[in-house]
Amino acid sequence: MSQRENLERIQTQPKLYVSLQCSEPFEAKNKIYMEKSKVLVVGGTGYIGRRIVKASLALGHTTYVLQRREIGLDIEKLQMLLSFKEQGAQLVEGSFFGVQIPFLSPSFISFLQGRRLKGRIPIPFFDHQSLVDAVKLVDVVICTMSGVHFRSHNILMQLKLVEAIKEAGNIKRFLPSEFGTDPSRMDKALEPGKVSFDEKMTVRKAIEEAKIPFTYVSANCFGGYFAGNLAQRGTLVPPRDKVAIYGDGKTKVIYLDEDDIATYTIKTLDDPRTLNKTLYLRPPENILTQLQLVEKWEKLLGKKLQKFSISAKDFLASMKVMDFTEQVGVGHFYHIFYEGCLSNFEIGEEGKEASALYPEVRYTHMDAYLKRYL
Ligand SMILES: NC(=O)c1ccc[n+]([C@@H]2O[C@H](COP(=O)([O-])OP(=O)(O)OC[C@H]3O[C@@H](n4cnc5c(N)ncnc54)[C@H](OP(=O)(O)O)[C@@H]3O)[C@@H](O)[C@H]2O)c1
Repeated sequence: MSQRENLERIQTQPKLYVSLQCSEPFEAKNKIYMEKSKVLVVGGTGYIGRRIVKASLALGHTTYVLQRREIGLDIEKLQMLLSFKEQGAQLVEGSFFGVQIPFLSPSFISFLQGRRLKGRIPIPFFDHQSLVDAVKLVDVVICTMSGVHFRSHNILMQLKLVEAIKEAGNIKRFLPSEFGTDPSRMDKALEPGKVSFDEKMTVRKAIEEAKIPFTYVSANCFGGYFAGNLAQRGTLVPPRDKVAIYGDGKTKVIYLDEDDIATYTIKTLDDPRTLNKTLYLRPPENILTQLQLVEKWEKLLGKKLQKFSISAKDFLASMKVMDFTEQVGVGHFYHIFYEGCLSNFEIGEEGKEASALYPEVRYTHMDAYLKRYL
């Protein structure tokens, strides 16, 4: 049974599955049952966020999704949020924006806040409180805030969420928006792309200073960004004739199906083994060199591609004529495909590997992933 079929089966039998999944055990009729944590997803309509919402529901968690007030007339987002609700999620209103009104007394603020919660009057200036209220509903917060420069990049916006979690004081686990290269290993990364890692480290520092329990998910390469295009820059579809190879094409890279990232992320929420650790996603069959990935596509296509190699020097030199966003991308590609930053270290005490912890997850291999591009 494929992992997707398995998830579908789980979705149709939520009660059975809930009884098999655990966090805090209790005895009933000689069986151990465990209650699952309640989850709030912030950034739930995003590229990885929507999959995390889906996986959270599929794995039986009570799932809340933040509905940001500032989405305004964005009909696509609203429709997606409504579809989450249809699938069993609960929407909770909140906002990252707002004006502080320091001269209002705390008692008057809480009076107005209570009125707002009853849905009688919208008060746009209590945004921090709206995040605190949302956080208080759950045990776990997962943030999937945007962090890709050519789309949208708001990683530091999470500092507001950290403040809210700190004030709420009830959160058992916070998973900030990471889902990529481990930023703690990238202090020597190239400028200007280093900013991505620096900002994620700023968020980590705030989390750890506030003593918020955490798990950082190092998801390596999203298939859609790196495998579907055979890691070619400037396109999201695979080439059918010629392919650029980075150096000798033999650096080990780690590719993940985005739905698998979401499943591993949800699996870790109630797992004490990943408390205050980094969860590295390294499913062994998906640790591939670029040449191995290309070969999989060639097999599907039934033909060989013409290959041309780009040296590290030429690759870096190409940055000179690029704008900021492209330079960020080239820096990240350089670390992944020339330096091997995803695979050139052993996981130490600070981390755990996902496929070893959760061998029951039947992750998608990259030849299956690439089939959709035929
Ligand atoms: N490893 C990889 O290959 C890879 C690839 C891509 C991304 N990533 C990482 O994955 C994480 C999520 O990225 P993504 O591509 O999924 O993000 P995304 O789709 O671009 O955006 C995610 C969400 O961020 C929220 N957001 C955007 N602008 C906001 C703002 N100004 N204020 C408040 N919220 C805002 C929105 O949430 P609402 O739902 O509330 O509107 C949006 O849906 C990032 O950390 C990124 O670096 C990794």
